[in-house]
Amino acid sequence: MRIIEAANYKEMSVKAAQLVIEKVRSSDCMTLGLATGGTPKGLYEELILDHRMNGTSYQCVTTFNLDEYIGLSKDDPNSYYQYMYTNFFSHIDIPLKNTHIPSGQAVDVQAECKRYDSQVKDSGGIDLQILGIGENGHIGFNEPGTSFSSGTHLVELTSSTREANARYFSSFDEVPRQAITMGISGIMKSKEILLLVSGVSKQDAMKKLFEGQVTEKFPASILNEHGNVTVIADTDALKLVKPSR
Ligand code: PGA
Repeated sequence: MRIIEAANYKEMSVKAAQLVIEKVRSSDCMTLGLATGGTPKGLYEELILDHRMNGTSYQCVTTFNLDEYIGLSKDDPNSYYQYMYTNFFSHIDIPLKNTHIPSGQAVDVQAECKRYDSQVKDSGGIDLQILGIGENGHIGFNEPGTSFSSGTHLVELTSSTREANARYFSSFDEVPRQAITMGISGIMKSKEILLLVSGVSKQDAMKKLFEGQVTEKFPASILNEHGNVTVIADTDALKLVKPSR
């Protein structure tokens, strides 16, 4: 894994944007894997700024998001569909038909999972996957214990994940208990991965990622076995990682 240290959240976002913009501009058409949460918001802001100032176009970009809450409609302000529309898609020139997010309202969730994996495959696979990491090491919503061979699947969210995300809801009880997430094997099939990490709350996760074992108990640890991962982390997140990294 290539580690790039950033002084702070802003610098992490700017460096990540440079990498993404370079990819988008140098390929005719590409498939981007996208993440939600607090971490990539600054990246999306930088991409929007660049789109406005430099005209980087997303007309030929296809996107696949990692996950969606079960039970929330596309119109729900807390759905990841709304997150992506509000924070990114509505500000750039990407055709909405090119954007894909698992449906949180599918009647047949298993069929939705299969459909999603097929769509990713039919698109030729993900060229660059943006990832965040949970305090418990989750990537996407793949919670500790998830099989490394998992495809897109239904997950029960852990209380630590629900607590971490409760800040967006009016109460903890409103945080959905389940989600659909791209699986670990789906994430690992991405040709390139960009993991963004910021803040002291991720210090332990960073230490485990770089110094721990590869184990399903810490899902992000599998990234050590991917040949093309760049981690952009800020100084706060890297404080517990030994300088020898
Ligand atoms: P965060 O979430 O960016 O809101 O910290 C990251 C994640 O849970 O993957």
